[in-house]
Amino acid sequence: MPEPFRKPPAAAPVWISGSCWKEIEATGTDAFLVAWSPRLRLERWGTFLRAIASQPVPLPCEASLLTPPADCRWKPRQVIWQAENDRTALHLAGGEWTTEVRELGLRYGIDLTPGTAPGLFPDQRENRVFLRSLRPRSLLNLFAHTCAFGLLAASTGATTLNIDNSARALGRGRDNFRRNRLDGENHRFWQEDVRKALPRLLRRGETFEGIILDPPTFAHGGRGRSFRIERELEPMLAVCLRLLSPRGSLLVSVNQSGTHRWKLDQLVRSALHREKIRARLEPSRHPPEVPGTRMPAGVWVIRED
Ligand SMILES: C[S@@+](CC[C@H](N)C(=O)[O-])C[C@H]1O[C@@H](n2cnc3c(N)ncnc32)[C@H](O)[C@@H]1O
Repeated sequence: MPEPFRKPPAAAPVWISGSCWKEIEATGTDAFLVAWSPRLRLERWGTFLRAIASQPVPLPCEASLLTPPADCRWKPRQVIWQAENDRTALHLAGGEWTTEVRELGLRYGIDLTPGTAPGLFPDQRENRVFLRSLRPRSLLNLFAHTCAFGLLAASTGATTLNIDNSARALGRGRDNFRRNRLDGENHRFWQEDVRKALPRLLRRGETFEGIILDPPTFAHGGRGRSFRIERELEPMLAVCLRLLSPRGSLLVSVNQSGTHRWKLDQLVRSALHREKIRARLEPSRHPPEVPGTRMPAGVWVIRED
C-alpha cells in the first residue's frame, strides 16, 4: 500500500496521494475522505466535494484549498462548505443535497443536508472488504443504520437481518437494497431497540455466521432507557457470542474516545472465557485514507470451534 498522504497533516488539509486515490477508485468506490487536517476535512461523495470545518470559520480565503491536485484527475460538480454540527451549509458550486455514490461496487443513496447523516460510513469500508472475504451465509447487522454491512453480505449471497430503531435509517437501508436489486424475502428489516431484539433472537434459537455490533456511544432511548455504551456493551457482547455459529465471525466496533483497542480486546477475551468459546481476535480493518485518530476501536472475533 503506498503512503496515503503526501506529507504529514498540517493546518491546511493535505490531500491523499494520486496513487492512493486510484487504488480506492479501483475498488469501485467514489465516497471517501480526500483531504484532512485537524481544522478541515474534505470528503468526496460521488460528484460532490464537501468541506467540513471543525469550528465555525469564514469561507476559505484560498480557493486552492478546495481544488483537487492534478494527479487525482477529478473535478467536483457540486461543492458544499459546512461547519461541523452547523444546521446550515453553503453551496459553492451546484445546488443539490442528495446523490448516489458507489462503495465496493454497490450503490448508496446519500443525503448531505446539514443535520442529516450522509447514509454511509466510509471509515468502515475495509471492514466490509473483510466481511466480503468471509462470505457468511447469514448476517445479523445490529445498529444497521442504512444497512451497508447487510448490503455487502447480501451481495455475496447471505441472508440478512438488519436491526435499527430509526425508521428513517432503515427506510434508507431498504432503498439501498432496492437500488442494488438485492431486496426480497431473504432480507429482514426490524425497526426495534437492539436490546429488546437480542433476547428474542436467543429464545428463537437463531444463529448467524456473521454478526456486526457497531453501536453508538450514546443514544436517547425514545420511550425506553437511554443507550450508554459503557453500560450496554458487555451484556450485548455475551448475547452476540451465543448467537454466533461455529466458525462464525463477529465485528465489535466502538466509537468512543476512551475505548482503546486493548481495552476492547480485554472485554472480548473475558466474554469468550465466560461463554467457553474458542476464538482468535484480529484488529478491525482501517482504510488507508482515514487517519488512525479518526478510527473507531474495533476487533474481529473469529470462532475457532
Ligand atoms: C454508528 S451508526 C451504525 C453504523 C452502521 N454500522 C454502518 O456501518 O452504516 C448507529 C445506529 O444505531 C442506531 N441506534 C441507536 N440506538 C439504538 C438502539 N438502542 N437500538 C437499535 N438501534 C439503535 C441509530 O439509529 C444509528 O443508525
